[in-house]
Amino acid sequence: MDHFNYHDGVLHAEEVPLPEIAAEVGTPAYIYSSATLRRHFGLFVQALEWTDHLVCFAVKANSNIAVLKLLGDMGAGMDVVSIGEYARARAAGVEGERIVFSGVGKTREEMRLALIGGVRQFNVESEPELVALSEIAASLGRTAPIALRVNPDVDAKTHEKISTGKSENKFGIPIARAREVYARAAALPGIEVIGVDMHIGSQLTDLEPFRQAYGKMADLTRKLRSDGHDIRRLDMGGGLGIPYERSNNAPPLPIEYGQVIRETVGDLGCEIVIEPGRNIAGNAGVLLASVVWLKQGEGRDFLILDAAMNDLIRPAMYSAHHDIVPVVEPPPGASVSPLDVVGPICETGDTFEKAMQLPPLGPGDLVAFRSAGAYGAVMASEYNTRPLVPEIMVDGDRFAVIRPRPSLEEMIARERLPEWL
Ligand code: LLP
Repeated sequence: MDHFNYHDGVLHAEEVPLPEIAAEVGTPAYIYSSATLRRHFGLFVQALEWTDHLVCFAVKANSNIAVLKLLGDMGAGMDVVSIGEYARARAAGVEGERIVFSGVGKTREEMRLALIGGVRQFNVESEPELVALSEIAASLGRTAPIALRVNPDVDAKTHEKISTGKSENKFGIPIARAREVYARAAALPGIEVIGVDMHIGSQLTDLEPFRQAYGKMADLTRKLRSDGHDIRRLDMGGGLGIPYERSNNAPPLPIEYGQVIRETVGDLGCEIVIEPGRNIAGNAGVLLASVVWLKQGEGRDFLILDAAMNDLIRPAMYSAHHDIVPVVEPPPGASVSPLDVVGPICETGDTFEKAMQLPPLGPGDLVAFRSAGAYGAVMASEYNTRPLVPEIMVDGDRFAVIRPRPSLEEMIARERLPEWL
C-alpha cells in the first residue's frame, strides 16, 4: 500500500496534487511519501516484535539524507556499503552504534574511518578483508565487532544481476569454509566475533529461498557455538520484493517474512538484524515526468518523455517494469492505444515500455512512474548532460525539495581544463 492516489481525478502524493509540485520544481523529479516510508518501516518492526531486533535500512536503495533522517528518527539502523553511505547516515543523525557496514570491497581507509566513527558491526566478506580489519583495529587500540557474510549457495530465484547467494557470485564466504574462517577470525587480535550475516539477493517474491538460506544459517550457528564462538546476533540481509505491477500476485508481506525468520532461527535467542531497502522505499516514491512529444513512427507511436534512462535506469538495466500512469485520471471508459514510452537519450535502450496501453496524452501532460523510490534517484547519472534529477519529500499537505536540480552552470563548473588547453 502506498500514498499515491487519485483525488478528484488528479494523482496526489498524500495530500499534495502532483501538478502543484511539477509547477514549482519542474520535471523530471522524484517524489517521496513520508507516510509510505513510515508505514513500511513500521511493518518490518512489527514483523520482528517477537524478538530483540534492529531494522537497518539499506541506504543504497535511497540515500537522500532526508529519507535517512525520517527513518533514523523512527529508530531505524542503517546498512551501508561505502564510507560515503556511512557519512550520509551520520549526517542524518544516526549514530555509529546503529550502522552495519556491509560490502565486498571495503578499503582499508573505509574500515579505519568507520572504526574511528563507530560502527555496530562489520559484515566481513573475505579473509583478506578480515586480516586487514584486524590490523587496522589493533593499530587503533580497538577491536572490530564482526559477522562473517556467509554464502549459503541458495538460488534466490530473482533476476541474475541481483542474485547474490549462489556459490558463483562474488559475495560472502562459502558456507563449507565458514567454520575454518570463524576459527581464524577468533584468533585475530583486532577482531571480536559476534554474529553471522547473509544476503541472498534482491526483489525476492518467494519466501522459500529465504527459508532454505536461514535454515543453513541456523545449522551453522549451532556448529559455531559448539566450536566456542559466542554468536549472539544474526543479520538476515534484505531482499524482500515489492509488487511492481498492480495486477500481479503480491509478493509476501513483511509479517510473513518475519515468520520465516522466527521459524528458522527464532529458537537461537539471537538479536535479529535485517537490511530491507526496496521494500521500505520502493513504493514510497514516483518519478514524475512530462510528455515532450507524441511521435508517429512506422507501425507504432512513441511517447517521448522528459525523463530518461539516466534518471531511472532499471528498465534499461534489468528489463524492469514500472507502471506508468497519467497524472490526470482518464475518464472511465476512455480509449487507450499502444505507445512505446521512451526518453530523449540517444540510445534505443532508452525505452521504458513497449506497446503500453495508454489513454490519449500530448505535450505537457504529466505521467508518473510508480514504485520508483528505491534504486531510482541513487542510480541516476548526468548522461547526455542532463542535470541530476531532483528529489522532493511530501508529508501530509506540505512538500520540500530535498535535492535541488543542479543548474547547467553548476554542472560545468565542477570540471577543470588542464593548463595546456
Ligand atoms: N543488504 C545487502 C548486503 C545488499 O547487497 C542489498 C541490496 C540489500 C541489503 C537491500 O536489498 P533490498 O531489500 O533492497 O532488496 N539496483 C538493483 C538492486 C540491487 C540490490 C543490491 N543489494 C535494482 O534496481 O533492482
